Amino acid sequence: MSRLWDRGEPLDARILRYCAGEDHRLDERLVSHDVTASIAHARMLKAQGLLSAEDCTLICDGLRALGQSHAAGEWTIRLEDEDCHTALETRLTERIGPAGGRVHLGRSRNDQVLTALRLYLLEASQGLAALADELATALDGLANRQGEIALPGYTHMQPAMPSSVALWAGGFATEFRDDAQALLRVRHRAGLNPLGSAAGYGVPGLPLDREHTTRALGFDAVHAPVTAVQLSRGKAESELLFQVTLTLNDISRMAADLLLYYTHEFAFVSLPESMTTGSSIMPQKRNPDVFELLRGAAATGLGALNEALGVFAKLSSGYHRDLQRLKAPLFRGIDLAAESLAIAAVAIDGVAFRAASIRLPAELQAAERANALVLAEGIPFREAYRRIAAEFKAKR
Ligand code: ARG
Repeated sequence: MSRLWDRGEPLDARILRYCAGEDHRLDERLVSHDVTASIAHARMLKAQGLLSAEDCTLICDGLRALGQSHAAGEWTIRLEDEDCHTALETRLTERIGPAGGRVHLGRSRNDQVLTALRLYLLEASQGLAALADELATALDGLANRQGEIALPGYTHMQPAMPSSVALWAGGFATEFRDDAQALLRVRHRAGLNPLGSAAGYGVPGLPLDREHTTRALGFDAVHAPVTAVQLSRGKAESELLFQVTLTLNDISRMAADLLLYYTHEFAFVSLPESMTTGSSIMPQKRNPDVFELLRGAAATGLGALNEALGVFAKLSSGYHRDLQRLKAPLFRGIDLAAESLAIAAVAIDGVAFRAASIRLPAELQAAERANALVLAEGIPFREAYRRIAAEFKAKR
């Protein structure tokens, strides 16, 4: 099998292997989107008189069948294919003959990969947002079951004010809903249609209709001018990874609270045995590993964001193969966020606060008592504060 750009000279297999890198494996998740984009492109070519109706039907039917057989696990992208674009065109031509070679008129893998990636990003961001909303719903459930239970609220890890399970869970639920909304905002970048920019400078001599593919693929607008398209590669990816990082930070902070609450000394919460692990040497142990791994996931999210930002930071304009290296951190960050959001919702369902072992020290009422003095005696807050503070001086 040969590459799309093959001119008959053999390529050093070691160079091919290095350049393809992980792409043939990573591109597996782009196949269905590349099929969708290629069908839209072929229909646009037909509408512009650049492809016959028969060839268009052959191409679209062939692509659809390839998409289905790929989804059914009947084929995967091989290293020799380099990427999903080559794999599809090669198999299309095997299947329908020379008409398969007509679909690449007026496009390049440079706009093709961005189109598939954007369709994927739009879908992935919706999936992550739905998972963040489900985690918020799990927290609502906890608040409904046990919201009345009082909790000490901490600042500086010192008892500060009275709080409650409803306030604790409600705070995180609100933030996960905020994360869900923010994850969807990638649309203002991923919603622009790259098709028609081709290698990065448009397609001379062909009457392409970029509006046609924009409508067909559900994009919001044409990405213009053509030179903006390659400049933008990495920005939508990084924006989504930034929101992924914020989401993982929220998960991490929630896990940090629960790990503290689960210590023997606090004993504010219990977890079902099915959620904790044992120790190979200490028979008494039940460890909350799932929350520790949720806490640690934030590091991987931040690493993925940093990696993505670094890939395109200093590139001159136009396409560079460096950009291929954006996929690994993007997919790693998205997968980790999806797994972590899903398991966090499962874990929250198992959390039970132990009302009997949660004690609120009397000092938590200090601010409320100072406020009461202000209302009762009309004195300045600072004076009321000093009077109450005097009671605590001796104690610490
Ligand atoms: N796998 C490549 C990428 O992700 C596809 C585009 C290849 N384009 C090229 N001119 N070699 O960037």
